[in-house]
Amino acid sequence: MALDRKATPNDLNAFWMPFTANRQFKKNPRMFVAARDMHYTTSDGRQVLDGTAGLWCCNAGHCRPRITEAIQRQAAELDYAPAFQMGHPVAFELANRIIEIAPRGIEHVFYTNSGSESVETALKLAIAWHRARGEGARTRLIGRERGYHGVNFGGISVGGIVNNRKVFGTLLGGVDHLPHTHLPAVNAFSKGQPENGANLADELERIVALHGAETIAAVIVEPVAGSTGVILPPKGYLEKLRAITRKHGILLIFDEVITGFGRLGAPFGSQYFDVLPDMMTTAKGLTNGVIPMGAVLTTAEVHDAFMTGPEHMIELFHGYTYSGNPIASAAGIATLETYREEALFERAAAIAPYWEEALHALKGLPHVIDIRNMGLIGAVELDPIAGEPTKRAFNAFLAAYDKGILIRTTGDIIAMSPPLIIEKPQIDELIGTLAGVLKTLA
Ligand SMILES: Cc1ncc(COP(=O)(O)O)c(C=O)c1O
Repeated sequence: MALDRKATPNDLNAFWMPFTANRQFKKNPRMFVAARDMHYTTSDGRQVLDGTAGLWCCNAGHCRPRITEAIQRQAAELDYAPAFQMGHPVAFELANRIIEIAPRGIEHVFYTNSGSESVETALKLAIAWHRARGEGARTRLIGRERGYHGVNFGGISVGGIVNNRKVFGTLLGGVDHLPHTHLPAVNAFSKGQPENGANLADELERIVALHGAETIAAVIVEPVAGSTGVILPPKGYLEKLRAITRKHGILLIFDEVITGFGRLGAPFGSQYFDVLPDMMTTAKGLTNGVIPMGAVLTTAEVHDAFMTGPEHMIELFHGYTYSGNPIASAAGIATLETYREEALFERAAAIAPYWEEALHALKGLPHVIDIRNMGLIGAVELDPIAGEPTKRAFNAFLAAYDKGILIRTTGDIIAMSPPLIIEKPQIDELIGTLAGVLKTLA
């Protein structure tokens, strides 16, 4: 019987693009058709230098042969295995390899398919963990203003980016927020970690006093907030959050979706800042962005509390059809091998001072009101056009793309996070081109 198929329209209408100005895009599309190492190739044959590692995820650069081959091999050998009540060796091997590079004290891996799912998983684990230990009243979740924890209901509830929240109803109940740590009046143009603002962590004591510690399950923060436009933790801030959460029996979750896998020049932000959370949410760089995969990493204390009851019983009623998918797992192993063989985390640490200097040389250019950096992350904040917020940075993004560099913008902030393989001349090209763009911006 012939399938009743509509003729396929060769236009851009059907695909409703995520986090995109669809109408603007479809009038003047920007298409990548190929990629290798530090560059994308556009549909009109131009090379574009990747200043953002895709979406903060292609930490080893693009189309790395080891990863491509691992995916091809795995797809031909074991394409899929049920994720519930069955296993396959590749997912176990990857979990062990993740734990090898995780901070000491982190011992277990729960697979998801994205950062958003990692966040939902961690939030659910936090509530269930307290319940498993007889503290079922601990259900409140504390996030932070301007935090980004993906786009699912839990994530936008604890998140603090207004546009991601305001049109989606009442969200989760029982959520409160710490203040963000963006303090331009005292910290503008800081190189690396800002000096001022550790006291903002004390706001957690106020929230605890308001709700009662016995109602709070977890605090979730990004060690370095990325998607909101790069907000750095002031010196001593994360240490304070850890001390206060520990004092009150509250779990601390680090959302390491961006800071994981070398972005700061250490495997995870936890090691970079020397602060151990109870759980870490990851995704992106886990598979070099090539195959969707995320993971929640936990301490033994979190995991072991669930390992009770009759042994034939499922301990945690949670998981995804694609948790630990064989092809994603193979991509993950090949990615971690690439990071290790090329010492990419060390490389990021070594080149970070050059990155910092190049970036801060943009100070004084038109509209630049702040520059922030850490590891291989950089942000340039622009003065918004009066009455037209976001437009100046978006114009910079479009002009940058025309001149052959890929940057990202959030509000009026330009964020950059190049692959960890970037070379010094490419840093010069990226920042030099951006300087040219800034000089011509209205
Ligand atoms: C800190 C953080 N958490 C969660 C997410 C969501 O990840 P995903 O887009 O894979 O769902 C992101 C994505 O940028 C992120 O930066």
